[in-house]
Amino acid sequence: MSYSKLKKAFGLWLLSAGAVNGSSDHIPYPNATGGEWDRAFGQASDFVSQLTLDEKVLLVSGTEGPCLVNIAPINRLNFTGLCIQNGPLALEQGTYSSVFPAGITIAATWDKKIAFQRGFQLAEEFRAKGSQVVLGPVAGPLGRSGMGGRNWEGFSPDPYLTGDLFTSSINGIQRAGVQACAKHYIGNEQETQRQSTTDDNGNTIESVSSNIDDRTLHELYLWPFQQAVKAGVASIMCSYNRLNQTYGCQNDKALNGILKTELGFQGYVMSDWGATHSGSPAVNAGEDMDMPGISKGYTVFWHQHLKAAVKNGSVAIERLDDMCRRVMTPYYHLKQNEGFPAIDPSEKDLNALLFSTPDEYKFNYTYSSHPNVDDLNSTLPLNKPGTIGVFGNDAGDLTNGMSYFYFNGVGKYEYGVLPTGGGSGSGLFTYVVSPLEAIKQKVDFKKTLVQYVLNNSAIIEPDSPYLAALQPSTPDVCLVFLKSWATEGEDRETLNFDWDGDKVVESIAAKCPNTVVITHSNGVNVMPWANHPNVTAILAAHLPGEEAGNSIVDVLWGDVNPSGRLPYTIAKKESDYSFAPITNSTALVNTHDPTAWQANFTEEVLIDYRHFDYYNKSVLYEFGFGLSYTTFSVGKEIGIHRLSKGQVKATPPHAKTVPGGNPRLWDDLYELSVSIKNTGKVAGAAVPQLYLTLPRGSVKGYVAKNVLRGFEKVHLTPGQSEKVTFKLTRRDISHWDTVRQEWVIPTGKVEARVGFSSRDFHASTSFKPLD
Ligand SMILES: *[C@@H]1O[C@H](CO)[C@@H](O)[C@H](O)[C@H]1NC(C)=O
Ligand SMILES: *[C@@H]1O[C@H](CO)[C@@H](O)[C@H](O)[C@H]1NC(C)=O
Ligand SMILES: *[C@@H]1O[C@H](CO)[C@@H](O)[C@H](O)[C@H]1NC(C)=O
Ligand SMILES: *[C@@H]1O[C@H](CO)[C@@H](O)[C@H](O)[C@H]1NC(C)=O
Ligand SMILES: *[C@@H]1O[C@H](CO)[C@@H](O)[C@H](O)[C@H]1NC(C)=O
Ligand SMILES: *[C@@H]1O[C@H](CO)[C@@H](O)[C@H](O)[C@H]1NC(C)=O
Ligand SMILES: *[C@@H]1O[C@H](CO)[C@@H](O)[C@H](O)[C@H]1NC(C)=O
Ligand SMILES: *[C@@H]1O[C@H](CO)[C@@H](O)[C@H](O)[C@H]1NC(C)=O
Ligand SMILES: *[C@@H]1O[C@H](CO)[C@@H](O)[C@H](O)[C@H]1NC(C)=O
Ligand SMILES: *[C@@H]1O[C@H](CO)[C@@H](O)[C@H](O)[C@H]1NC(C)=O
Ligand SMILES: *[C@@H]1O[C@H](CO)[C@@H](O)[C@H](O)[C@H]1NC(C)=O
Repeated sequence: MSYSKLKKAFGLWLLSAGAVNGSSDHIPYPNATGGEWDRAFGQASDFVSQLTLDEKVLLVSGTEGPCLVNIAPINRLNFTGLCIQNGPLALEQGTYSSVFPAGITIAATWDKKIAFQRGFQLAEEFRAKGSQVVLGPVAGPLGRSGMGGRNWEGFSPDPYLTGDLFTSSINGIQRAGVQACAKHYIGNEQETQRQSTTDDNGNTIESVSSNIDDRTLHELYLWPFQQAVKAGVASIMCSYNRLNQTYGCQNDKALNGILKTELGFQGYVMSDWGATHSGSPAVNAGEDMDMPGISKGYTVFWHQHLKAAVKNGSVAIERLDDMCRRVMTPYYHLKQNEGFPAIDPSEKDLNALLFSTPDEYKFNYTYSSHPNVDDLNSTLPLNKPGTIGVFGNDAGDLTNGMSYFYFNGVGKYEYGVLPTGGGSGSGLFTYVVSPLEAIKQKVDFKKTLVQYVLNNSAIIEPDSPYLAALQPSTPDVCLVFLKSWATEGEDRETLNFDWDGDKVVESIAAKCPNTVVITHSNGVNVMPWANHPNVTAILAAHLPGEEAGNSIVDVLWGDVNPSGRLPYTIAKKESDYSFAPITNSTALVNTHDPTAWQANFTEEVLIDYRHFDYYNKSVLYEFGFGLSYTTFSVGKEIGIHRLSKGQVKATPPHAKTVPGGNPRLWDDLYELSVSIKNTGKVAGAAVPQLYLTLPRGSVKGYVAKNVLRGFEKVHLTPGQSEKVTFKLTRRDISHWDTVRQEWVIPTGKVEARVGFSSRDFHASTSFKPLD
């Protein structure tokens, strides 16, 4: 469809913009054509042509089975169905699965290879356990508000950093022959009122509506999803929230319009659990698969109703065929029809704890014997301390079991390390190595005394006798372990550490001149003690997964040189984040107005560092900041090479849409290079970062001062230097033009800076792309 037709369709759609229970179907649904998956599309078309109407409606609805959800097998066609499992950091419903570091932890590595590896290794476990689909990775929430309860599942509030890590994760997952499901599309930036509720009169109060202008959508929230489509992601999950008043899973403009027409997405749109709010309106708006479909406890909008809708013409049979082909194409593309392992039986036992028992299944499934799953090899200097003090309730072993999903909220436990967040993005631990355990394993007790107090209340007691009892002297180093919990289903109420963590640091630092604070956290925190003279180091370990203790010991003893970088800003105080609050109030909680919940994204593109930079606000630790045991320098010169032949035009040349949109958006127009040197004494990894200031052009709203447009992780031995190049695509130097509905390179000068954080620039240059 041409852009003018698209705009016209959008215009028509806007007439029904107020629709909550289904926008009218004005945008003709874009039929998948296979895109770069032509062989698989042919196989899928063959398969679908053999299906009966009953089989077709089953193929697009979830059902009970041994997995979180299943697509029913069709035995006469040798289709064993699909086993779909959570989630982004572990195969949650399976014993002996590895629990990998959370997305936020990967984001802090700024390392595309690690993101790929996590995806690949995670997906190998899915495959070994007979699960075809990973529900992950996550780029929504992006992290508009630091209080977002699920931000840790994704990567960073910066769309460029998230875009690259999201895509590397998808590539890793799909390289292992498993389908990725990129979630949650789109504007799912808070947990509070993410789903509709019922007021005390029994009337429906609709989900929060994320009201996002077109440019902000393209430049922030859609940005990583566009890359995911380009990378060939199998599936995209539509979200609970409403977008501009219309539910995410029946939003014609978001699904048929942006995702399938503008971005040319060829896979299938799967609903979040219970995010489907209608039958034919959702189907005609572009949703392809309803979850959990006909499983117990959920309203069934599809299945037999979809069959009836096809019979009475409110859904065209061609549309249902398109849905089925979209579901089967990635399956064939990833060769899941060829010898994919059967389902690990432990999945059904775990599923029975929360969802359904085998006697409730409507279909029969085949199982394997328990497959073996490899463990993750985890990677992360103390100088022979004679005495070590370990403090805080985050230092020891878990005390309330190994799951953060089956007993949702258990992660609020007082005693035990916090290795992950809660909810469906979590994992069932096979084991967890606590920091205290790893420290004890590391030291030789004959040479090093390890003393510990894990009770925060005892530590913060005035003149605590427990601290006084640490004899013979103040420890050479005091390691304080803090935690900060978050879970799906609720947003955070504070950015402070849990369990009086701030007071714990103050109590220890008052006595111990060498206090090292280690945090296990879901993301943004305030650190009022950061400049305390006795706090000598802060290690943000985020949510490291099962190897929590070993990874921190590696860094503490210098076996691994830390090279993480903040994927968000740590501001000076909580109120500094008030530019993008969670929409919530007592009045809203008690409202009788069905559409009262409105989140206006009026800050537009100014979230996280873009906000602090724009308003010239000082921060504690800026986006991109991080320390190392070595030092690096950047050469003063930035080399610039124009890669395009001939004059660059403001808009991309016309080209047939492929997955990801106009392929010319990805043309590399410039290559910038700098030289990076390890100037210290040990080997380590630098993360040079490229930021651009784009001219305003014809943009009406806020324009960020600096935007990240390149980063690389560079491993260097002492004295070694290396040339690092950053390629700039057309999209990287464009704004989204809402009138032209196109990415447009603005007239004027682009400023480029390279450094080691968003506020630490060492080299700069400029160029005029349109000259
Ligand atoms: C998709 O195919 C159907 C049936 O063949 C057709 O009616 C519809 O217009 C097509 N959609 C687009 C956007 O071409
Ligand atoms: C199903 O598999 C069996 C055994 O491999 C084979 O004989 C049969 O032809 C297959 N049927 C279809 C429809 O592919
Ligand atoms: C949402 O509304 C804003 C403001 O009218 C508009 O710019 C944007 O395109 C709309 N987005 C969608 C997906 O409807
Ligand atoms: C067609 O069937 C669907 C599903 O039963 C129903 O919701 C819809 O109202 C019907 N439409 C017409 C025009 O009969
Ligand atoms: C499941 O297997 C049982 C026993 O073999 C059989 O009776 C039943 O019909 C099967 N169910 C389905 C849906 O195939
Ligand atoms: C994990 O560690 C083992 C032994 O330490 C090694 O053989 C293997 O190659 C490592 N795997 C990865 C993926 O790094
Ligand atoms: C922790 O310390 C407080 C204050 O001394 C005490 O009341 C509490 O019982 C202790 N908790 C445990 C589990 O020992
Ligand atoms: C730092 O530690 C020393 C003990 O070595 C203590 O005397 C001093 O008061 C501490 N400083 C602060 C600001 O608490
Ligand atoms: C939302 O508001 C209600 C009512 O004021 C309050 O109880 C709840 O804690 C708030 N939630 C968050 C995440 O702030
Ligand atoms: C959101 O924006 C709409 C449209 O501009 C406005 O009517 C409404 O009052 C705003 N809501 C809030 C909570 O700011
Ligand atoms: C930030 O500082 C710059 C340079 O001093 C100034 O031009 C700009 O107006 C300031 N912005 C705000 C929002 O105060």
